[in-house]
Amino acid sequence: MRRALVAGNWKMNKTIGEARTLALEVAEGVAGEDLSGVEVVLGPPYLALSAVVETVAGGAIGVAGQDCSHHPDGAYTGEVSVPMLTDAGATHVILGHSERRELMGEGDGLVARKAQAASAGGLTPIICLGEPFTTRKAGTTLSRIAHQVEHSIQGAFASPPPGGFIVAYEPVWAIGTGLTATPEQAQEAHAFIRERLEAIFGLECAQETRILYGGSVKPDNAADLFAGPDIDGGLIGGASLKGADFLEIIRAARTDSASI
Ligand code: PGA
Repeated sequence: MRRALVAGNWKMNKTIGEARTLALEVAEGVAGEDLSGVEVVLGPPYLALSAVVETVAGGAIGVAGQDCSHHPDGAYTGEVSVPMLTDAGATHVILGHSERRELMGEGDGLVARKAQAASAGGLTPIICLGEPFTTRKAGTTLSRIAHQVEHSIQGAFASPPPGGFIVAYEPVWAIGTGLTATPEQAQEAHAFIRERLEAIFGLECAQETRILYGGSVKPDNAADLFAGPDIDGGLIGGASLKGADFLEIIRAARTDSASI
């Protein structure tokens, strides 16, 4: 049985003080209700990572870097390494986010190298993939996703990690736009990703892998999206910046987790 996972991607938002306040609101909300059926991860900007780790210490909330270098150290100005993230207390790292793919020109090969470095260094990667609008319009979404699974995931792992992968399906046209994939579109893509993982890594890995949906998840559409049998939670951007909204989304994942 897969445990639902809801991860917040705060992107380039929140000062250290603001991050502490938001993390505390989430930690108190999670502790105050029975939300134990859902794994929760917060993704603050690097500078606020230690503050968030301190704020959620002692609870079950994980903390993710929003990216990492595949190099362990060296002359890479502006980069942050896996050992730096683990030293700061991170448990996860978001990789291959569409904003990094689109704005920073990151490709599948680099995402795979980062995933390899993260995994070897003790961080759990949350590997993002998804198609832009032109691909969806052209009707080639599934082949694009298959290519990303092969090159971002298969390219990085000869064998799957225990417990499978964490993959985030993010239709690029639905990120930060207010547009959302319909639950049917999301479920179709998720089922396809699972099928590809099964073909590459086998049934056990496919069944254990959590596939999160990311793309304008809000409190009012979360339950419908999470009801899909292959939708195991979400990677939440805008709505993770408000504690009350994020907690609502975590609750929606908990309801759904009973059925998976
Ligand atoms: P959004 O972002 O929820 O604001 O669309 C999702 C993401 O980029 O992870």
